[in-house]
Amino acid sequence: MSRPLLTLLALGILFGCTRGQSSSSVPSPSDESAVIAGDSLYGRVGCDRCHGVDAGGTLNGGSLRTTNWKFNNGSFDDLVRVIAEGVPASALHDRTRRQGMPPRGGAAITGEQIRQLAAFVYAISKR
Ligand code: HEC
Repeated sequence: MSRPLLTLLALGILFGCTRGQSSSSVPSPSDESAVIAGDSLYGRVGCDRCHGVDAGGTLNGGSLRTTNWKFNNGSFDDLVRVIAEGVPASALHDRTRRQGMPPRGGAAITGEQIRQLAAFVYAISKR
């Protein structure tokens, strides 16, 4: 095999590996691609129905642009937990809410997507 072809092949393998790695690695709140993915998921999977298009809250769910959390401690990990578990209606302090939050917001989302949503919420909560 010619040298340039070998180099190309090696580069291709390298690129393929790092790509595979980054998509299967755990998103962290500072991972910008996770924040962007979470942003686009937010409206697609229906979080906006209760928390508002701008995540500023509706009658059905509170604002996510806050650090004044009631059902999680504001850490990335605890945001992952609360999005995965939801909040049962019986735990709500706000009696004007018609329902709680179903696990995963009632959407069929993967663990990785939950972490992307948590990265997004974490990012907007700090602004
Ligand atoms: C059916 C309405 C509904 C949907 C859909 C929904 N939520 Fe919620 N969510 C709630 C309610 C109600 C609470 C409890 C706190 C409150 O009253 O705002 C809550 C709580 C939370 C909290 C914790 C708030 C705190 O104070 O600790 C986070 C974070 C959150 N939701 C994110 C999401 C995300 C991300 C999605 C989309 C996957 C989502 N929610 C979908 C209704 C909803």
